[in-house]
Amino acid sequence: MKAPNLNLKMGRGMGKPGIKILFILGCITLAGAIIGASGDQGSQPIQYNHKLHVEDADLACLDCHQNANTLSRASIPNISICGDCHDDTESENIEERKVAEYVSNGVDIPWVPIHIVPDHVYFSHRRHVKLAQIECKDCHGDVSQMERPFSIAFVNMEMEWCIDCHEERNVTNDCYACHR
Ligand code: HEC
Ligand code: HEC
Ligand code: HEC
Ligand code: HEC
Ligand code: HEC
Repeated sequence: MKAPNLNLKMGRGMGKPGIKILFILGCITLAGAIIGASGDQGSQPIQYNHKLHVEDADLACLDCHQNANTLSRASIPNISICGDCHDDTESENIEERKVAEYVSNGVDIPWVPIHIVPDHVYFSHRRHVKLAQIECKDCHGDVSQMERPFSIAFVNMEMEWCIDCHEERNVTNDCYACHR
């Protein structure tokens, strides 16, 4: 990002700390605006509709996110699953046609990941979904009603969020449980 460099350059020439602070505040606001805007941009390659697949096509979350019960990552489905129902490259529905084209070309759909914790954090879906029986909804919102693909996370998956629930449910908050 360019703003901090600019800030250093300007700061050097100016003796007055007041101006420097104002400038830094300006940069922070600017950076905030840039980050805020990029949150909305996460447009997915296909206008995927959860509601249609869950309610109308009667699929369960685990039909597509096949590892949520067994592994740490839930996994995002790709053409091997979509191809079961979408192979009509002549479909009149543009979005469906796009899916069918990925399928017939054997190219994975480049979904943009939205819910991610950093590498130094250990999170396991199996632990929370299978063992603790926490519903997807509690952490991801009512996905079954979503008609547009994800562009932002339902909750900010920050440390406090994890720790608050662990506290409520008497689960360990030992640093090494989550940072291994
Ligand atoms: C037909 C397959 C399918 C079904 C069924 C399905 N999903 Fe998805 N899910 C997807 C696809 C494709 C994406 C990526 C596009 C998007 O973000 O909408 C996705 C994305 C997600 C994400 C965001 C992934 C990320 O990058 O952070 C969550 C959370 C999620 N689904 C939860 C659910 C839940 C909960 C259910 C059940 C109510 C469900 N899904 C049912 C296909 C499916
Ligand atoms: C206790 C909270 C919690 C519950 C319950 C939960 N998730 Fe997640 N989910 C997360 C977190 C945290 C991440 C980010 C994990 C990461 O980066 O490894 C995530 C990421 C995801 C992703 C994208 C990355 C991946 O893991 O492949 C999908 C898809 C997803 N969840 C689907 C589901 C589905 C479907 C369910 C219910 C069967 C579910 N989640 C239940 C917290 C939860
Ligand atoms: C079990 C069958 C089934 C699977 C698997 C499936 N779909 Fe669908 N999909 C449907 C049905 C049914 C419709 C609605 C009727 C139609 O448009 O064909 C639909 C419609 C669509 C549409 C058009 C949506 C709209 O809003 O008009 C898209 C895009 C789509 N699916 C993407 C996907 C993707 C991506 C996957 C894989 C993650 C997938 N589907 C997996 C059955 C399925
Ligand atoms: C909605 C409540 C809730 C949220 C949010 C939540 N957890 Fe948990 N977590 C639990 C429960 C309940 C257990 C106990 C599961 C069991 O029965 O083993 C658990 C267990 C764990 C464990 C295993 C602890 C041990 O005993 O070794 C880890 C690691 C963990 N969670 C990490 C996370 C991380 C990282 C996050 C945030 C990204 C998170 N959790 C968010 C409820 C939650
Ligand atoms: C229940 C899970 C959990 C526990 C317990 C936990 N953390 Fe974290 N921690 C996280 C998650 C998730 C993140 C990443 C999201 C964030 O930065 O808020 C994180 C991020 C961090 C970071 C990086 C912050 C940053 O700004 O990049 C540090 C440092 C950290 N934790 C230290 C600790 C220490 C020290 C403890 C013990 C007192 C601890 N954590 C306990 C889940 C946990």
